[in-house]
Amino acid sequence: MDWFDSDYYHILYKHRDYNEARNFIDKIIKYLNIKKGSKILDLACGIGRHSIYLEKIGFKVVGTDKSLNNINKAKANQNQSLSFLQMEMIEDTNNRYDGIFNLFTSFGYVNHDYNLKTIKNIERQLKDDGIIVVDFMNTLFVKNNLVIEETKVIDDLIFKIKRRSDGKHIYKEIKFNDKKDYLFREKVMDLSINDFKNYFKRYNLKIVKTFGDYNLNEFDIQNSKRLIMIIKKSQP
Ligand SMILES: C[S@@+](CC[C@H](N)C(=O)[O-])C[C@H]1O[C@@H](n2cnc3c(N)ncnc32)[C@H](O)[C@@H]1O
Repeated sequence: MDWFDSDYYHILYKHRDYNEARNFIDKIIKYLNIKKGSKILDLACGIGRHSIYLEKIGFKVVGTDKSLNNINKAKANQNQSLSFLQMEMIEDTNNRYDGIFNLFTSFGYVNHDYNLKTIKNIERQLKDDGIIVVDFMNTLFVKNNLVIEETKVIDDLIFKIKRRSDGKHIYKEIKFNDKKDYLFREKVMDLSINDFKNYFKRYNLKIVKTFGDYNLNEFDIQNSKRLIMIIKKSQP
């Protein structure tokens, strides 16, 4: 089973909860000034923590994720203006959106080609005056501050986490015992802001603003934990 598909992911990251999602969404929606009633795609939505809140505050939301377990959990919240679909990021929902959000490092798990297909798919589904938000980790900060080994005790489970970087990917290994031994691996591409700029340029998209954390402080390559990019279609 995939790490993101497993219940243990949600135990380890239980602090990454609805409160964190709500705080960030409130701030980013205020900054972007997107009209209530607009259509938002939450691409790689997980169990839907951002989608659910976006719908609650008045948007029409579609959340997609490749994890069937996540989508099944999210579907418990479905209603007329909130739906969830299990699909890959490169698949088309056959809809057009005012906003497409890809949040909390939900990009770069496959390869360069897949990234390009994803951006093409995002561009295709975005209205001409639409806005994209991509929230990735600041890989330079992560590498400079790499916590190589860490133990976390959550819900009586002892998670032993190891991290490493080889310049191309950042790897995480998660080991624990819950009646039996478990080992999960996560591998995400080491993408810089320039890599993203190059991806976006190919599809006539442009980064118009960056933030470095969920409180919307300015992005600073040395000190920011996050790389949050606001992207729009380039005007001809
Ligand atoms: C770190 S989680 C973040 C989930 C959610 N955005 C949140 O903030 O709670 C990354 C998510 O990306 C999804 N994902 C990874 N690769 C994907 C792909 N190729 N297509 C669709 N979803 C993918 C995983 O299943 C997982 O739910």
